Amino acid sequence: MKYKTLKGLQDILPPDISVWQHIEAGARDIFKNYGFQEIRLPVMESTDVFIRSIGETSDIVEKEMYTFQDKGGRSVTLRPEGTAPFVRAYVEHHLYNNPAPQKYYYMGPMFRYERPQAFRYRQFYQIGAEAMGIDDPKLDAEIISMLALILGSIGLVGLNFEITSIGCKNCRPGYRSALKKFLNDKIDKFCKDCQRRFDINPLRILDCKVPSCIESRQGSPPVLDFLCTECEGHFKSLKKYLDILSVSYTINPNLVRGLDYYTKTAFEVSSESLGSQKAVAAGGRYDSMVDEFGGPSTPGIGFAIGMERIIPLIKDSLSEPAGPDLLFCPLGDEAAVKAFLLTGQLRAEGLWVEMNLESTSLRSQMRKANRIGAKNVIVLGEDELKTGEISIKDMVSGEQNKSLLEVNQLIKIIRKET
Ligand code: HAM
Repeated sequence: MKYKTLKGLQDILPPDISVWQHIEAGARDIFKNYGFQEIRLPVMESTDVFIRSIGETSDIVEKEMYTFQDKGGRSVTLRPEGTAPFVRAYVEHHLYNNPAPQKYYYMGPMFRYERPQAFRYRQFYQIGAEAMGIDDPKLDAEIISMLALILGSIGLVGLNFEITSIGCKNCRPGYRSALKKFLNDKIDKFCKDCQRRFDINPLRILDCKVPSCIESRQGSPPVLDFLCTECEGHFKSLKKYLDILSVSYTINPNLVRGLDYYTKTAFEVSSESLGSQKAVAAGGRYDSMVDEFGGPSTPGIGFAIGMERIIPLIKDSLSEPAGPDLLFCPLGDEAAVKAFLLTGQLRAEGLWVEMNLESTSLRSQMRKANRIGAKNVIVLGEDELKTGEISIKDMVSGEQNKSLLEVNQLIKIIRKET
């Protein structure tokens, strides 16, 4: 084989694609009920869009971005996530002028140069949602419950919703100093990256995946103990509203997100069935990002679902996609022309119709009908053309129904309206 997909990328083919479409359609329905509108953004942005927002010391920016120079010498990056490009668009198009909350969703590929493994790809798809302009914890609860509804509606069960608060620019400095104090006398046990992060961004040390760093940071002070009055109140209300909406959750004070832009609420949804890459969706509040992009101070909150992580969890529970409503099996050239015409007419009426284009024996045509799961079959030979009358075979019940070779009557029989 001369060419293959690149490492960490995959082709999505039928019948799997029907599972993707099922999830996307289900999510779209729910987004509509919550007042979210779709936006489509480029897959490529100026590299600066990601560096400050996601964080210079984050794994994504330090190691995982597909960054290159275009032919005009500009540094561009394939989007590793959707929130920073969304905020860029939000500010560029002055979307903050619309009544708040402004609610948007997106679906599409993201790119991270990570080490590929099960459920971790270099091109992966997210369904993301962002709600802007309101910092009331009711909105946080609404977003988390909408995520629960989307995941539940596509048949996911046994998920663990973890929430925390990671504070804001007022309380984070206190937490940062406490963490530094804790790490200070053991920093030489950490990897080189963490030693570098100690001075620039010690919070990132909590996100390091190196086993010795995970071990050495055991017992670090929990961020929830350092929240300011406002963040504490916000988190308390969030829990109250989640309870009102009957969303089950656990509080995980050690939840760390791989992105620097979060403030206050952060959450992650995981499934134990996925092993080490168990996060199926994640998100949080980002109240300072719009100002950092040059817009008016505007709070925001959102999440993204990882498609490749939810597909394996529901794939087996979905039935195979149905076959065509009707297959024409013409015998001979004249019958093929008549079947060709009727196929087009019936498709225009909204039926899924196929015809055999190869002139093979009746036996092999019937074999094909079974293979493609045709619900009805019409054999069209010389006699049928002469009399203008055919039999439609219902492939499930085996019943034969007589019909004239006429579009309206065929439709009625196929739709079982007679
Ligand atoms: P994230 O946690 O980086 O958040 O990614 C969200 C989800 O994308 C993860 O929980 C996971 O399911 C999926 N994911 C991430 N990396 C990979 C990968 N390499 N292969 C397969 N799936 C992956 C964000 O991206 C934020 N933008 C979410 C957000 C929106 N926060 C606020 N608004």
